[in-house]
Amino acid sequence: MDRYAVIGNPIAHSKSPLIHGLFARQTGQQLTYEALLAPLDDFAGTLRAFLREGLGANVTVPFKEQAWELVDTRTPAAELAGAVNTIARQADGRLLGDNTDGKGLVRDIQHNAGFSLSGKRVLLVGAGGAARGVIQPLLEAQPAQLCVVNRTVEKAEHLARLFRDLGPISAAGFDWIEEPVDLIINATSASLDGQLPPISPGLIQPGLTWCYDMMYASEATVFNRWAAEQGAARCLDGLGMLVEQAAEAFALWRGVRPETAPVLAALR
Ligand SMILES: NC(=O)c1ccc[n+]([C@@H]2O[C@H](COP(=O)([O-])OP(=O)(O)OC[C@H]3O[C@@H](n4cnc5c(N)ncnc54)[C@H](OP(=O)(O)O)[C@@H]3O)[C@@H](O)[C@H]2O)c1
Repeated sequence: MDRYAVIGNPIAHSKSPLIHGLFARQTGQQLTYEALLAPLDDFAGTLRAFLREGLGANVTVPFKEQAWELVDTRTPAAELAGAVNTIARQADGRLLGDNTDGKGLVRDIQHNAGFSLSGKRVLLVGAGGAARGVIQPLLEAQPAQLCVVNRTVEKAEHLARLFRDLGPISAAGFDWIEEPVDLIINATSASLDGQLPPISPGLIQPGLTWCYDMMYASEATVFNRWAAEQGAARCLDGLGMLVEQAAEAFALWRGVRPETAPVLAALR
């Protein structure tokens, strides 16, 4: 049986084995997918041991940057993201690294939710690994403006410099207040601690602005509760992004892209 895994620390909470199991059943692919806990100081050892037999792996917190260093070749998306979340062992044994997070986010926003990014003013809150991984696909969707805001403003400025050749990107701190935007994407880890990034309610135009929290939980996240209180037109969470990035990884490994809607519905 072809073997795949997700490697992280912690990993017990991961929904990836369930998602890939549902994909495999739906597409009739014969494979196993397990969750592997890597010691914080030996991701490389865990990955190498698994890939002696395994054909591919997903990589999650906190190892995506290490995975970027370890692979032999990278897709353009992974190169720019500075992080790898999907590894495929190729026929010659070399490891190919991809980053499917950004493609997953954009597909969830545009295809699943039906929000066209073209010509829209988008605010990306946060400048960590998740934010960096989604900037290229967001700019490819041709927004009118993508502004990155972050608590540590230098990190937002660094990202704006890194991606400036790809589209209209700018950077600011949380004191940045302008007109309301069309879409706010929360890519901070603040929700994990039940906290809100200090963005101005004035950025939400009631009935028009959409909000997307990359985090997901069984109940609405603190960011999405706040956005709904401000009158946001729609509040979406990151479960769709998770399923879509998994579908991209599955397609890279197996050459077939599963239907995500039934899997997302099953998870909800
Ligand atoms: N749905 C999915 O498939 C998916 C995929 C990837 C990531 N994610 C989610 O994305 C989130 C971010 O992950 P990451 O890997 O980018 O983390 P990270 O690299 O550690 O970056 C964390 C970011 O959050 C900011 N931040 C943290 N606490 C804050 C607070 N209280 N107020 C304002 N800003 C705060 C940090 O600002 P500073 O730079 O100033 O410290 C930084 O920009 C996590 O919730 C993760 O679960 C979801």
